[in-house]
Amino acid sequence: MGITFNESSKIFKLDTKNTSYVMGVEDSFGYLLHYYYGRKLRHDDVNYLGRTGEAPFTPDRNNRDKLSFLDCAPFEYPTGGIGDFRNHCLEVRTNAGHNAVELGYRSHVIYSGKKALPGLPATFGKENECTSLEVVMADDILGLEVTLQYSAFEELDVITRSVKVKNLGTKEDSIYLTKVLSACVDMDNKDFSLLSMHGSWARERKIQYRKVSQGRTGVVSERGESSHQDHPFVALTTPNITQTAGEVYGFHFVYSGNFEAYSEANQFDLVRTVMGISPYHFTWKLEKEEEFQAPEVVMVYSSEGLSHMTRTLHDLYRNHLIRSPFKDKKRPILINNWEATYFEFTTEKLLAIAREASKLGIEMLVMDDGWFGNRFDDNRALGDWFVNEEKLQGGLKYLVDEVNKLGMKFGIWFEPEMISPDSDLYREHPDWAIQVPGRTAGLCRCQYVLDLTRPEVLEHTWNSISTILRSANIEYVKWDMNRQLADLGSFNLDSDRQGELYHRYVLAVYELQERLLREFPDLLLENCSGGGARFDPGMLFYSPQIWCSDDTDAIERLKIQEGTAMIYPLSSMGAHVSDCPNHTVGRVTPFETRGHVALAGTFGYELDITKIPEEDRNMIPEQVKMYHTYNDLVRTGDYYRIASYRENNEYDCWEVVSKDGKEVLVTFVQVLNRPNYHSRLIKLQGLNPDARYRVQGSDKVYSGDALMYAGLPVENPWGDFKSKLIYLVLE
Ligand code: GLA
Repeated sequence: MGITFNESSKIFKLDTKNTSYVMGVEDSFGYLLHYYYGRKLRHDDVNYLGRTGEAPFTPDRNNRDKLSFLDCAPFEYPTGGIGDFRNHCLEVRTNAGHNAVELGYRSHVIYSGKKALPGLPATFGKENECTSLEVVMADDILGLEVTLQYSAFEELDVITRSVKVKNLGTKEDSIYLTKVLSACVDMDNKDFSLLSMHGSWARERKIQYRKVSQGRTGVVSERGESSHQDHPFVALTTPNITQTAGEVYGFHFVYSGNFEAYSEANQFDLVRTVMGISPYHFTWKLEKEEEFQAPEVVMVYSSEGLSHMTRTLHDLYRNHLIRSPFKDKKRPILINNWEATYFEFTTEKLLAIAREASKLGIEMLVMDDGWFGNRFDDNRALGDWFVNEEKLQGGLKYLVDEVNKLGMKFGIWFEPEMISPDSDLYREHPDWAIQVPGRTAGLCRCQYVLDLTRPEVLEHTWNSISTILRSANIEYVKWDMNRQLADLGSFNLDSDRQGELYHRYVLAVYELQERLLREFPDLLLENCSGGGARFDPGMLFYSPQIWCSDDTDAIERLKIQEGTAMIYPLSSMGAHVSDCPNHTVGRVTPFETRGHVALAGTFGYELDITKIPEEDRNMIPEQVKMYHTYNDLVRTGDYYRIASYRENNEYDCWEVVSKDGKEVLVTFVQVLNRPNYHSRLIKLQGLNPDARYRVQGSDKVYSGDALMYAGLPVENPWGDFKSKLIYLVLE
């Protein structure tokens, strides 16, 4: 059993293969205190770490110094209004206008397996894969019950957490939740830095470190989605962290809307880290006997550097979060017409691309934005989900059938959550857009967001998408979302419920995607948001892959994919070979390098195959072969970050080792060359030190220990932006 409760000391211990997480019930009031998280402990006798007996903080003796105690005790789920002046997780507003909540332990249950979270994405595990704990806490004065939900994935060094709040109705007919975070961990400062990821459109998930100190350091999105700018992930790292050494505590939020995660050292250098839905414009009215379920936080601890955290998250997401049957399958190599044609295409143009692509081994045509309504540019027509027959002469079914005749599958782009002011839908239902009455709502890319929290809007949206999907043999959907939320207002919600709109919106998106998967179980879904603005664990529950970034330049992608792959499996990273000069940065890179970089993700093309240089086109069959040869390994293997161009300014290198240890694929990208007589020695990771490995295509054989401790010699390719794939097999 991965979770135990010691009846006499009232200590809970959650164990995974290499980690322990310990908390316990304090005697005076029944506060739940956090004692320990880190390397595995043999025993649970660590309640001394709660330091409750240390004067002057003696809660069991009197009330005299209660606030001093509350303000520095390590709480498992701190609440607001009672004297813990640090960042806390739960805050309410009663009808009388008060905000205090104080939680005491009531009961608990431990069981094998893991329950689903209603309406929310979450990790899952069978009875032999994880153990769960629910600790019931309560505030009797409010009649509020708070259930802390934990699961320990024993083989994976993962602990997940979430929280459910219930108004028992014994004291308050309704109560307003104004802040419900999902997790908190208090621990002594180990000179921590906070690793987080930030960016913008076309520059997603750039890795950043900041020192944790007094004052809050963190990430936050109040944009209605997980966003390009900040990512719902933080990790506490000890000094001089590397891929293979140092301690890491990773926290990842399984949610696609507003979030916050903060670390702060208090006056005594105790560090509190919290994560959950951002309290910004959040109020949730909980009527008698109603429950509010907060989303899940995934926690990973590694005492062996970043790499162990990365591989743990990859395995967790591949096996316990992504549900799509495609997660275990090689995805069809697609060609997307966005960068090829933008809005200017016709049936004939798409078929010309498909004809050429099919000859070269590409397996699916994806028709991107511009096929519907009056969509000749991005100023109009979102919401008018009927085929534009001026562009698609013969209709959608004709096009799909013709593509199928070429032996290719067909995929389509939607942006179902949006409405353009210049659309039939808006002219008919102007109130369907999220807006504050009496105020002109701001546009972004000339569009508004549909108020999907209204049942009739959700139903209409569903009917529009499903009608199109039923009208032809469509096997893939790219679900886009190209603006963030502002001017929050819903005609559907009472004034005291307007603060529910952000979260209800995310729940509605989840409901729509759930319905899509239920009704079209064989569909391959790829989420997208102006590139990678909704690349988050929540979305992975619905789609096995997410478009990583609109920046398709191979060199820019190195940093974007490094950040993304640190916490997401390569199998989920949408990556395409595009044309040069690159449409985002104007850079010219070799076609081969573009192929090698895209191979680290789902792999596909995004260019006008009828127009690219002959020489590039001729390389496609070879790249197709490369994908078929290596994708099983890339999709299922263990990923190691070997070198980072972000850190060394010269080259990037990553490695994938098959789970059985027999195959190793090294990708080396030389960004800027420099004079050097010798080859570069690249220290590999994750090999068997006793084994020997042969470099395919040569007669070179190396020992595993030499490759790891001395390095694999990689000859400098001549020039900039050059890359190499090196494939080694166990002798
Ligand atoms: C977003 C996507 C692109 C493309 C365009 C279409 O920016 O990320 O890949 O689909 O929308 O408008």
